[in-house]
Amino acid sequence: MNKIIIAIDGFSSCGKSTMAKALARNIGYLYFDSGAMYRAVALYCMQNGLVKEGTIDSEALRGKMKEIQITFTADPESKNSITHLNGIDVEHEIRSLEVSRYVSQVAALDFVRSEMVEQQREMGKKKGIVMDGRDIGTTVFPDAEMKVFVTASAEVRAQRRYDELTARGDKADYNEILENVLQRDHIDQTRAVSPLKRAEDALLLDNSNLTREEQMDWLIEEFNKKIKAC
Ligand code: DC
Repeated sequence: MNKIIIAIDGFSSCGKSTMAKALARNIGYLYFDSGAMYRAVALYCMQNGLVKEGTIDSEALRGKMKEIQITFTADPESKNSITHLNGIDVEHEIRSLEVSRYVSQVAALDFVRSEMVEQQREMGKKKGIVMDGRDIGTTVFPDAEMKVFVTASAEVRAQRRYDELTARGDKADYNEILENVLQRDHIDQTRAVSPLKRAEDALLLDNSNLTREEQMDWLIEEFNKKIKAC
């Protein structure tokens, strides 16, 4: 059977990663979390003194780009992907609210994006992948055979992020998270390079009121349609 590329884009915290991961597992594809790559770059900035008074020192970062290697491995038991920054497992750290605060600034830098896009295209060379992010269907893989644009209300998304953080034992404040979600939506949609927008040929999925099972049934149905058409 022909393998395809599945691009899943959408707003932050609308469950794209969980959904993309589960879809990949169900259909035997590899999963790549492009947001994790931008998060790892933000963490690198925080760890290496490249944040000055809340702002990323972009010129210093430009000079360090070649020193940033991001790779993924699969957890042997859960098969979940683990993000590594220069060989160190940073999967947990990159999900913190502090990284979330800086990541949009990092993701708005053209030299960061071009480097990440190059690496992401390399990951899709053999097809058979599900990749989620903001510009996968528009910039990284404009010819992806299946594109999905996911959305949900800001309040639903903030609640989900709150539940995720508290479930893993992190302190969380709902209003602070909601503010962060709205702020990231704004930065993601208005940045000059690859702003978040729905590709014309992307299927729209509003999952505010869908269960995970309903969502998966829909995805599998759409996947089967695409595969038949290839
Ligand atoms: O999906 P996420 O919340 O982990 O993404 C983290 C940040 O990275 C988010 O602010 C948007 C940005 N991002 C991006 O600009 N392009 C992508 N392909 C993926 C994420």
